[in-house]
Amino acid sequence: MVERTFLLVWHTPSLIKPRQPTFNRMDSLARSIQQAVWLSHGLREDVIVKAYFTDGVLLTLTPRDWRGVHVDERSLLGQLNSAREKRTPGIRYEERSFREVLEGVQPPIFLLEEDGQPLEESMLTHSGTFILGGPLGIPEDLGSFLKEYPRVRVGRKAYLASSVIAHLNILLDEQGE
Ligand SMILES: C[S@@+](CC[C@H](N)C(=O)[O-])C[C@H]1O[C@@H](n2cnc3c(N)ncnc32)[C@H](O)[C@@H]1O
Repeated sequence: MVERTFLLVWHTPSLIKPRQPTFNRMDSLARSIQQAVWLSHGLREDVIVKAYFTDGVLLTLTPRDWRGVHVDERSLLGQLNSAREKRTPGIRYEERSFREVLEGVQPPIFLLEEDGQPLEESMLTHSGTFILGGPLGIPEDLGSFLKEYPRVRVGRKAYLASSVIAHLNILLDEQGE
């Protein structure tokens, strides 16, 4: 039963070049996926990761359906890339408007931003959707779709999206105990 979704709103098109991980900052995306999905000895079954790109492509990762997906960045990017051509369990690409993406995720929805309100644990239920930007933040033209959601921060500094995801996962794990 999936209980938390991380939606990464990326600032580039969805083109992945596995041999060149920094192209379109997919290294950063791969690290965010790693932190969202892997525990020390296995995959989280209660997480979905979505990434929305500037070319209107939505990537949805459902780790509980994955078979043989690797933890290292290059292999992960290679698998994400080949899944565009070859049907791969747990990895799906589709074209969507941003509005459709937001309508398709589980509430409550939180927008993670370093200048948001302090995130209080009482705001967190075990389920929900957490929206984060990539290295350049959320693209400006999509920001207006997000105005209705609470903007929250996990600290006063700008952290890597992957660090914020790791922090949220641990907080939510504690809530679920
Ligand atoms: C490397 S940061 C981008 C920072 C960039 N200066 C910006 O304008 O958004 C990537 C993403 O991590 C999240 N993030 C970074 N620091 C955060 C914080 N202290 N609290 C909540 N989210 C944070 C935000 O979603 C941000 O878009």
